[in-house]
Amino acid sequence: MSNQSDKQRAAIAALKYVDEDTIIGIGTGSTVNLFIDALVAQNLRIRGAISSSNATSQRLQQEKIEIFDLNAVGNIDFYFDGADECDSHLRLIKGGGAALTREKIIAAASRRFICMVDESKQVKVLGNFPVPVEVIPMARSYVARQIVALGGHPIWRENVVTDNGNVILDIHGMRIVDPVALEANLNQITGVVMVGLFARRPADVLIVGSENGVKILPDVCLQAL
Ligand code: 5RP
Repeated sequence: MSNQSDKQRAAIAALKYVDEDTIIGIGTGSTVNLFIDALVAQNLRIRGAISSSNATSQRLQQEKIEIFDLNAVGNIDFYFDGADECDSHLRLIKGGGAALTREKIIAAASRRFICMVDESKQVKVLGNFPVPVEVIPMARSYVARQIVALGGHPIWRENVVTDNGNVILDIHGMRIVDPVALEANLNQITGVVMVGLFARRPADVLIVGSENGVKILPDVCLQAL
């Protein structure tokens, strides 16, 4: 079970990667909200943020943090986000909050992706958490049939419309031994907008909060980043 204090430990530890006066990428979810709280509490003055969702944008606006358009900024140095599941290669399942498409775009445009999780998110093999897939609405049934052919059990996340106006299929029942291959196979289905598997572009740093403190993977010093 996820634990708020463990998420908070990870979020606070991530602050050491924040350079003041820079524009950073910010993801979506409860861990990210704790990260924003910690940023404000420690009075770290960033130039602004690229936001991954309307929910995060609202939160940033409340804190008077300027939001920039990724198109106007170009690539950025650091992206901060949570995850629903992570393995020892820092490959992730994301999109529990339905923000996977913008999250993946910002991660792609970032030099370093700093992922903050509580220890319950760590798994040996990805797939216990259903893989979210953002889909163009008219392709929903077609994409679902293709996913069944790949061995997955897609469930439509009813009453959820993404910030991009699309729908989400959550793929249950997959033990993902080759996340890079599955990500590629799902990406090839016509009608799929984005897949919540972050395997081809995993996190660069994983900060794991637990009651014993934080663990940072891989175990490299900040200068090496
Ligand atoms: C949103 C995400 C989140 O990072 C993921 O769902 C984790 O959320 P939380 O920090 O609330 O546990 O991918 O689309």
